[in-house]
Amino acid sequence: MDIFRICGGLALRGEVKVSGSKNSALPLFAASLLTDDETILENVPDLSDINFMAEILTEMGAEVYRIDSNSWKIRPTSIVPYAPYELVRKMRASICLLGPLVARLKKAEIPMPGGCVIGNRPIDLHVRALQGLGADVQLSGGIVKVDGKNIFGNSIFIGGRHGSTVTGTANAIMLAVLTPGHSVLEGSACEPEITDLCNMLVKMGAKIEGIGSHLLKIEGVNKLHGCRHTVIPDRIEAGTYMIAGAMTGGDLTINGIEHAHMGSFLDLLKSSGLNFTLNENKIQINDNSTLNPLEVVTLPFPGFPTDLQAQICALASVTPGLSVITERVYPSRFMHVPELLRMGAHISLEGSSAIIRGSQKLTGAPVMASDLRASAALILAGLEATGETWVQRIYHLDRGYENFEQKLTQLGAYVERLPESELSKSISSSNNLIN
Ligand code: EPZ
Repeated sequence: MDIFRICGGLALRGEVKVSGSKNSALPLFAASLLTDDETILENVPDLSDINFMAEILTEMGAEVYRIDSNSWKIRPTSIVPYAPYELVRKMRASICLLGPLVARLKKAEIPMPGGCVIGNRPIDLHVRALQGLGADVQLSGGIVKVDGKNIFGNSIFIGGRHGSTVTGTANAIMLAVLTPGHSVLEGSACEPEITDLCNMLVKMGAKIEGIGSHLLKIEGVNKLHGCRHTVIPDRIEAGTYMIAGAMTGGDLTINGIEHAHMGSFLDLLKSSGLNFTLNENKIQINDNSTLNPLEVVTLPFPGFPTDLQAQICALASVTPGLSVITERVYPSRFMHVPELLRMGAHISLEGSSAIIRGSQKLTGAPVMASDLRASAALILAGLEATGETWVQRIYHLDRGYENFEQKLTQLGAYVERLPESELSKSISSSNNLIN
């Protein structure tokens, strides 16, 4: 298992290009199953999650070719409505296979996704959406079994107590596009990744109105065809680099982003005092910013993204004053906090809020990543901290950030990927020094 060794205190400088969006690419791979034609996806990030999805589609009988590190060709001429537990358990996004399989094959048997450290992640809204469009859904033996013989266009509400569901909306859309009749999806998520999915489906021949809103109107069609589609840039990766720039007092340019996808995140950073300018598809961060304490509440798009909450906690840890970060989407998503405390941060958790008293500097330490975004937050903390930080379980990061250490090194950071054994060696050598 790899770890990162980071020597902090270096300001980031230069240009970095954002990769394609993981959370858009995954449902797009699933959507390619809606036709027996060929689909070509470009600007796909080179990540372990993408490889998992490609493996799952291959296991289901699709011909999946990697054209180059960021382009794929998928030809699902004949597929089966099952997916192997061994692969599905590794990646929750495989739940997005339900909609396209029921739409095309009128049945699906997909293992239920397991537990997740970021919080309770039920699939009741997915089930309700499929049932709302006439499917019969049984959960037995850890498998979601769906019979879609009698699907029909209908008006359904897919919101939940934490607001809209992103992949739940994706499943409902992918079922409705091939379901006879008129469907109205109320309370739909309107994340840029959902808009990207709708845009690709329209290219495949789907009839969708209200794209980008919480109310989608879909006229089912008999058949869809293949297409060539470019995945949108990753707004969460872009946000992560912005926070890295803010924490290290950097002077950097982030290329290849869509400002409109950044929602209220940019407003918040502007109001926190970060000095940056927006040009075309770039964000230019200037190094002369004085940051104010932050007040953040995570919400579905266009609200502040929960996938940037851990990173903003790291920023608040080094911003003088009292910041309050409230998590409304995954109320217990604070696995990064105990590790930031190890680096000298002052954070107390009150219910689903982190109360953070910003300190001057963090101190490097060995820390443990618990999930994808927590790993990014710990790396950002390591970039700001004095001394060495060792981030363990980097496999979490590789699920969602393409070439992270290369990109950071290109910006002047000192980040090294090492085998885990290096950590125990370094700890024992520093113990020898102490004794
Ligand atoms: C997507 O997950 C993203 N994953 C997540 O990103 C992201 O955190 C999340 O949306 C919210 O923005 C992908 O796109 C692959 P939800 P998803 O259904 O669709 C509750 C990352 O770091 N809910 O929108 O699974 C749920 O528990 C990952 O890249 C139900 O109650 O999230 C949560 O509280 C992590 N019942 C809220 O809704 C359901 O049936 C939002 O979840 C479904 C969801």
